[in-house]
Amino acid sequence: MASARGEFGSRFGFIMAAAGSAVGLGNIWGFPTQAASNGGAAFLLVYLVLAFCLAYPVLMAELIIGRHAHSNAVSALQKIAPGARSRRLGTTTGVVGFITASFILSFYAVIAGWMMAHCLAAAANLLGAPDIAAWLVNMGTTRNILFMALFMGLTVGIINGGVHDGIERWSSRLMPVLLVTMVLLVVYVLTLDGAMEGLKVYLLPDFSAAISPQLIVKALGAAFFSLSLGVGTMLVYGSYVSDKENLPVLGGLVTLIDIGIAVLAGFLVLPAMYVAQHSGVEIFNSAGALISEDTLIFTVLPALFDTMGIAGVVVSFAFFALMSIAALTSSISMLEVPVAYTIESQGWTRHRAVLLIGFAIGVMSLIILLNFDTLFGLVVSVTTRYSQPLLGFMYCLFCGWLWHRDSILQELKNGAPDVESGFFWKIWPGYIRYVCPAVIMIIFLQAIFG
Ligand code: PHE
Repeated sequence: MASARGEFGSRFGFIMAAAGSAVGLGNIWGFPTQAASNGGAAFLLVYLVLAFCLAYPVLMAELIIGRHAHSNAVSALQKIAPGARSRRLGTTTGVVGFITASFILSFYAVIAGWMMAHCLAAAANLLGAPDIAAWLVNMGTTRNILFMALFMGLTVGIINGGVHDGIERWSSRLMPVLLVTMVLLVVYVLTLDGAMEGLKVYLLPDFSAAISPQLIVKALGAAFFSLSLGVGTMLVYGSYVSDKENLPVLGGLVTLIDIGIAVLAGFLVLPAMYVAQHSGVEIFNSAGALISEDTLIFTVLPALFDTMGIAGVVVSFAFFALMSIAALTSSISMLEVPVAYTIESQGWTRHRAVLLIGFAIGVMSLIILLNFDTLFGLVVSVTTRYSQPLLGFMYCLFCGWLWHRDSILQELKNGAPDVESGFFWKIWPGYIRYVCPAVIMIIFLQAIFG
């Protein structure tokens, strides 16, 4: 039954796909700058603890439910719900999840489009076409719409190929390219003047910053977004995993890769900023804080690349290619959530589901682009600050309280026969029942009233 709806062909394929979903703009863009402005290594430490103690257990909840049900999030939650009321709750959670995933994709496609445009601009410069390059880096409406549509087209094309020939094939190709590019960039940047100063900011902990409650809230939010939790992505990927695989180990590897790449991105972005400063680029804003977010990516770093001559053009190409790849392996996982639902619950063909949903999300992106100032920030904060934690809370509720513990153990024993006597089973059930929901609720309330 499982293979009729698609299944990952190998352990490597699943790990690349799930790590591809997790590793995205959140890791390479969000994490390093947050670490920089929030206590450097102290933030890193808090992030590591939270990722392993809170995000990993929720990731496991999604993977176990998905693999057990071998279906999309809506049907899976309905399947494990013990009664009529919890079934309705399952339906609502699954539906809100795929709507959230679609909205995340609609703003993600806008940013990813910018990344691709900058990547092509570097290529145009290399080929001696500076006019085209100038158009490509300019924030024009036509350029924005064109590249958003191009990025959505790539996402739709890959998802149209299905689990094995689309998601698995492309993630297995792109993720190694991403890793190699990143390592090469880190090594190169670390040889430049000024890099060591950035490294110090990143690695010398300022513990007074790390203990503040606001910071812990931020680090947890980052960890949840980074591991793609709550919206059903990991559940759907889990549903394509064979019953022979050891889920706690697979989930652990995905978490390790996700965190590893975020940490590695810190070794790239922070030293690069101080190299930029060394070359005369302003890296602090008027309030004295490090410039972050879009100004960092689209102003500070390009200014640095400009000072580096021809090497800068190559580095710029590699950097924005890296960003585009990271975004693409995440966006395909977002699109797969509503697509899996409509195929399985509404009986659509994959082709029809991918085209119609892809088109609808493209239209949402277009509306965001045309009303950027009002809609962009709103969609980002509703989906990532409110919806994701709340949905994560629902997964804890289902795994910790509603789904029968014996049934969970039985599911885990597929592929991990000794799990009952191991460390994971000693810790995880209590975590998912008490610790995770409590902490997520605190964060959610903090996000609303904080
Ligand atoms: N994890 C992705 C990132 O770090 C974002 C994402 C969120 C992907 C939700 C899928 C679902 O950028």
